[in-house]
Amino acid sequence: MSQPILEVKNISKRFRGLLAVNDLSFHVNKGEILGVIGPNGAGKSTTFNLITGVYTSDTGEVKLNGQNITGLSPNVICKKGLSRTFQVTRPFGDMSVLQNVMVGAFLNTSNMLRAEQEAMEMVEFVGLGDKVHSVARTLSIIDQRRLEFARSLATKPTLLLLDEALAGLNSIEVEEAIKLIWKVKEAGVTLVVIEHVMKVINTISDRVVVLNFGSMLAQGVPKEVMNNPAVIEAYLGKGFTQHA
Ligand SMILES: Nc1ncnc2c1ncn2[C@@H]1O[C@H](COP(=O)(O)OP(=O)(O)O)[C@@H](O)[C@H]1O
Ligand SMILES: [Mg+2]
Repeated sequence: MSQPILEVKNISKRFRGLLAVNDLSFHVNKGEILGVIGPNGAGKSTTFNLITGVYTSDTGEVKLNGQNITGLSPNVICKKGLSRTFQVTRPFGDMSVLQNVMVGAFLNTSNMLRAEQEAMEMVEFVGLGDKVHSVARTLSIIDQRRLEFARSLATKPTLLLLDEALAGLNSIEVEEAIKLIWKVKEAGVTLVVIEHVMKVINTISDRVVVLNFGSMLAQGVPKEVMNNPAVIEAYLGKGFTQHA
C-alpha cells in the first residue's frame, strides 16, 4: 500500500484539567474521504487544530506525505498543501467574494493578476460565479460555505480538512454541498470531513473515525462503524439524534 498522505501518531492536547485529545492516532490514505464523527466536545475540532498547527500537540507527531510537520506554523503547513475550513466561517465581511478568495491564492503567488485569475477559477468552481463582486457579509449561509471552500481551495491543497462545512444547510443545500465535495475529490484532493449528519457521513466517507472524550472509539467503513454498539452507546448516551 502506498504511503498515507497524513499520519497522526499519539497526539494529545490538554486544556487545564481537560484532556481534549488523548493519545490519538489515525491515518488518511491518498484520494480518500475520511469521515470524523463523535459527540459534541469529543475533540474533533481540536484534532484539526493540532494537525494544522493552530495548537501545538503535547505529545506525538503529525506527518504529511511522510514529512514531520509537528510544531510548524499554520501558514507553513498550508504551504505544504494542507488546508482547512473553520467550523465557524470567517470571511472578511467587508471584502468581495473575489477578494476573499484571493487571500487564499496569495499563499502561493504574490502576483496580483495571477491571484485574481486563480481566485476567479475557484469562485466559479464552487458555483459563486454570479456573486464574485458581492460583499461577503451579504451572502447566504450556503454561499458563505461555498466561499469558505473556494478560499481553502485557492491555497491549492492536496489535503483539505472540512470542519462541519455543511452545518446550517437545509436538505437541498446539503445535497449540493455533497456534490461539491465529490467534485473536489475528483479534482484529486484528499479530504477529512467532520460532520454531524450521519447520512452525509454514510454517503461520502470511504472510512470513518469515531472520537469520544478525545480518544479513538472506533474506525472502519461507515456501515461497520454505525453498527458498532460502542458507537451507538456514545451517541445515545449524549442524547444524540439522527438529524442535525
Ligand atoms: N481553546 C480551548 N480552551 C479550553 N478548552 C477547549 C479549547 N478548545 C476546545 N476546548 C475543549 O476541548 C473539548 C473538545 O472540544 P472540540 O475539539 O471543539 O470538540 P468537538 O469539535 O468534537 O465538538 C471540549 O470540552 C472543549 O470545551
Ligand atoms: Mg467542533
